This record gives sequence, C-alpha cells and structure tokens, in this order.
Amino acid sequence: MTTTPATEPLKFAYWVPNVSGGLVVSNIEQRTDWGYDYNVKLAKLAENNGFDYALSQVRYTASYGADQQHESTSFSLGLLTQTERLKVIAAVHPYFWHPAVLAKWLITADHISGGRAAVNVVSGWFKNEAVDLGVRWLEHGERYRQSEEFIRVLRGLFDSAEKGPFTHQGDFFQVHDFQLKPGPVTSEGRPHPEIFQGGNSTAARAQAGNVADWYFSNGKDFDGFTEQYLEVNQNAALAGREGAVKFGLNGFLVARDTEKEARDVLEEIIAKANPEAVEGFRSAVQQAGPSTGDGKGMWADSTFRDLVQYNDGFRTGLVGTPEQVATRIVEYKKRGVDLFLLGFLHYLEDVEYFGAKVLPIVRELEADLEKTGDPVAAR
Ligand SMILES: Cc1cc2nc3c(=O)[nH]c(=O)nc-3n(C[C@H](O)[C@H](O)[C@H](O)COP(=O)(O)O)c2cc1C
Repeated sequence: MTTTPATEPLKFAYWVPNVSGGLVVSNIEQRTDWGYDYNVKLAKLAENNGFDYALSQVRYTASYGADQQHESTSFSLGLLTQTERLKVIAAVHPYFWHPAVLAKWLITADHISGGRAAVNVVSGWFKNEAVDLGVRWLEHGERYRQSEEFIRVLRGLFDSAEKGPFTHQGDFFQVHDFQLKPGPVTSEGRPHPEIFQGGNSTAARAQAGNVADWYFSNGKDFDGFTEQYLEVNQNAALAGREGAVKFGLNGFLVARDTEKEARDVLEEIIAKANPEAVEGFRSAVQQAGPSTGDGKGMWADSTFRDLVQYNDGFRTGLVGTPEQVATRIVEYKKRGVDLFLLGFLHYLEDVEYFGAKVLPIVRELEADLEKTGDPVAAR
C-alpha cells in the first residue's frame, strides 16, 4: 500500500484554549486566554482565517501547567452559537458518558448549529482524575474495547433516526429499543456528526480502521505519520471500510517573517519550560502508549522537549517563515494528511498571521500539486 495525497483542499483545525496556560507547558509570556469571551473572539477570527474546525479538549482536573479548565461539551456549544461556519469538535471520554446521552447532546448541538457539531472520542491517560471521580480505571486495551463499543453505539443511534429503534447488549453499554428523535441534521459531506478519535497505539489504530471517521495523530515527522497512515488504512480495508478514515495531524505552528525569529520563539518556549509540570505530565501519560505491550502509542518515545507541547506538536516541524511552513504542510498532504490540528503561542495574533501569510501559500502549493504532482519542483 502506498501513500496517496488527499485531493480535497487541506482542512485546518485549532485547539481551543479552554484550559489556562495555553498549549505549551512553559513560563514564556503567552497572550492566549482560556476564558469564554476571548474564545468567542478567537473562533470568529479563526473561521474568517481559513479554519474549518475547532477542537475543545477535555480534562476535568486542573493540572500540569493548567490551573483552570472549561468543560468541553458546554464550551463547544457556546462556540457553535457564536459562529457561522466553524465545526466544533468536543472531546469526550467514554468512561464518563452513556453513549445515548452523548448522542442526544450531539444531535441537539447539531440542530442548534445547523449541522456543525462533532465529537472526538478519547480513551484517556489521566488515571487519577478518573479514580477521583469514582470511575473504575480499565487497563489500556479494555479502555479501547469500551471506546470502540461506544462509537458503534453512537453510529447505531445516529442510524436509528431513519431505520427505527436501536438495541445494543454489550459488555459496557446497554440500549433497549431507543430511537433518536430528532436525528442528525442533513449537512453537506457528512451523514451525521463526524466522529474523530485521539490515540495512536495499536489498539487506537485498530479502532480507527473499524469505526472512526477521522484519526488524529500526535505531532510526528514524515515517517512517524506515514507509519500510522499505512496501518490505519490497512485496518480499514480489513474491516471493509477501505479509504473511509481521514487523517488529522497535530502541529504547533510558529511562523514569523524570518526563520531566526521563529526558531528563537521555539527555543524560548523550551528554555522557559516548567520542568515540574512537564515531568508530572510525563508520569501521568505512562497510562497511554508507554503502557502497551508493543510500546506503540502516544508519548511512548517523547523527550522532555517534545512534552513541553503536550501533544508532541514540535515534532511536526511547523516552525519557520510562511513559505517554509506552508511547504512542509503540503509535504504532509502528499503523504496523506487531510487536516492539520494546530496550536499557537499567541492565538489571536498567530491565527491572523496564519490566515494572511501562510494559508495563501498553502493554497498555491496545493494548486501546483494538482497540476504537477510536485509543488516544490514547480516553484
Ligand atoms: C489530537 C488528540 C487529542 C486528544 N485530546 C485528548 C483530550 O482532550 N483529553 C484526553 O484525556 N485525552 C486526549 N487525547 C489522548 C487520548 O486520551 C488517548 O486515547 C490516550 O492518551 C491513549 O493513547 P494511546 O492509544 O496512544 O495509548 C488526545 C489525543 C490526540 C491524538
């Protein structure tokens, strides 16, 4: 199997800063705010600067450099009511929800927003948080069994609106004769709210092939992305869903007028890292990729430097001039990335700079790619 570039224009998402401390665990000055008013302004700015999606992250216990934390589903709904085109993806842990309750939330949010609600199903790494809230912590593989069942039930419920009442007797969830009324909004390009998933382990890759619409990768270099792309696509083909999974890649983007300025920002972020918070986070994420038998998965080989951006976003290498960053973005597109999930230091300023300076070059390079197959050679 080879990698094939997506033919659609690349899509862009941003991490909603619904937690304090921004997207890096560093004492560097950040002009990013975690509050609602700031986030509404940001969401409106983002949808006018080329962003199709925003992702609200979920954590309940303020920790590891984040002192304040807004809940993901309510925050997402707030942003949906204040925007016109942006799709907002709310992250959820299956161990805190009944899938039918979440499906009801999603469909109501979908109706309020005209078909712009989406969900990111995450299988969790924060054991102490779950235990503090009275949830029995399942080991890694079992959490994925639960998450996959959760997504299957969501899909069954979405279908129930047309097909009739849905029943499911599973190991984790039960639904008896239940029909979603209303069903999903009819919206271009998707039959129901899109289902994203986070997690990069072998179990996560199997789940993506079996049931997800989108696979989110932590920050990776070219080979690190390709390796996941091939395996997930293979899994999808085995599940009779060839080509059904789309790929999102995380990256922390620092674009400045000169390469030196951009690199200096990155080095300052790392030099001013909060070591205690980074090490605390490292210890908590031992419950993710590092806890698996084959050592594959998120944070399995992250260095201290990587962990300063808690989704390995520096590894994607989106640091430099607009031209350099745009070129690298399109190189990833050639390898099969459909969407970039971006984090920034000073969100309002950086999102605007991205829309004005980086995105136009990305679109030019994509047009070249359509014509020649190699945008770099064509320039
Ligand atoms: C893009 C992305 C976003 C994620 N967002 C969250 C989140 O908001 N909350 C959370 O607890 N985990 C989040 N995760 C991590 C998942 O919980 C993941 O399933 C878990 O860390 C296990 O990872 P593994 O399958 O690689 O071992 C995210 C993962 C990715 C790739």
